Amino acid sequence: MVWIGVAPVAVSEDLASVIHASFSDSGQATLMRLEQDPLQQRCSQPRDERVDDDTAMALRQERLNAVVFPKDGNFLGDWQRGAAVAASGRGLQSNDDPSIANGGNCYACHQLAPTEVAYGTLGPSLTQYGLRGQSEAMLRYTWTKLWDTHAFNLCSHMPRFGAQKILTEQQLKDVMAFLLDPNSSVNQPAEGPSSAH
Ligand code: HEC
Repeated sequence: MVWIGVAPVAVSEDLASVIHASFSDSGQATLMRLEQDPLQQRCSQPRDERVDDDTAMALRQERLNAVVFPKDGNFLGDWQRGAAVAASGRGLQSNDDPSIANGGNCYACHQLAPTEVAYGTLGPSLTQYGLRGQSEAMLRYTWTKLWDTHAFNLCSHMPRFGAQKILTEQQLKDVMAFLLDPNSSVNQPAEGPSSAH
């Protein structure tokens, strides 16, 4: 029954050529983006073929080892600047100016400041995230999650903000402060309709 092993390969090659034929380079959005790294290849497999085997563990460990922590040991920047980074969805598209800093587009997937009513729900709500405190473990966990989410959840849908150079070290520090600074709008109580005056 050789065809059982061969058929999926033929299908995926067809698929790859169809995908390649469907796109062309446009500004900074080049066909290079269709090249999958080993992690993306792994996570493109059907879910039931993605058992947590040695390969998965090795890929995750590789991502964990590659995380670069802040050079000066200081994880927290300016929460107001971080709020602007989180709210901006600009960057990396063919019509974006590559010389302008990218945004994090966090609201596409997360609730953050409770005053912002437009947010996606692909990721969990991060409102009141700062309640978790600023222990070394929390700082390192949150930084790692932002730097390369695959270090914890191999097939996460969240972008790899540090590893893929989407955000700079300073932008990441500012987003960290947006999440963790007690004064940040993320950590203020939501105003109910009755408290309006
Ligand atoms: C494309 C969707 C997407 C975007 C954009 C995104 N995230 Fe996420 N994020 C997720 C998903 C899904 C999870 C939960 C699953 C997982 O762990 O991967 C998550 C998890 C997290 C967690 C861990 C939550 C916890 O309870 O410990 C943090 C912190 C986080 N995201 C912060 C951010 C920040 C800050 C930004 C913007 C700079 C951002 N995310 C952008 C999808 C996204």
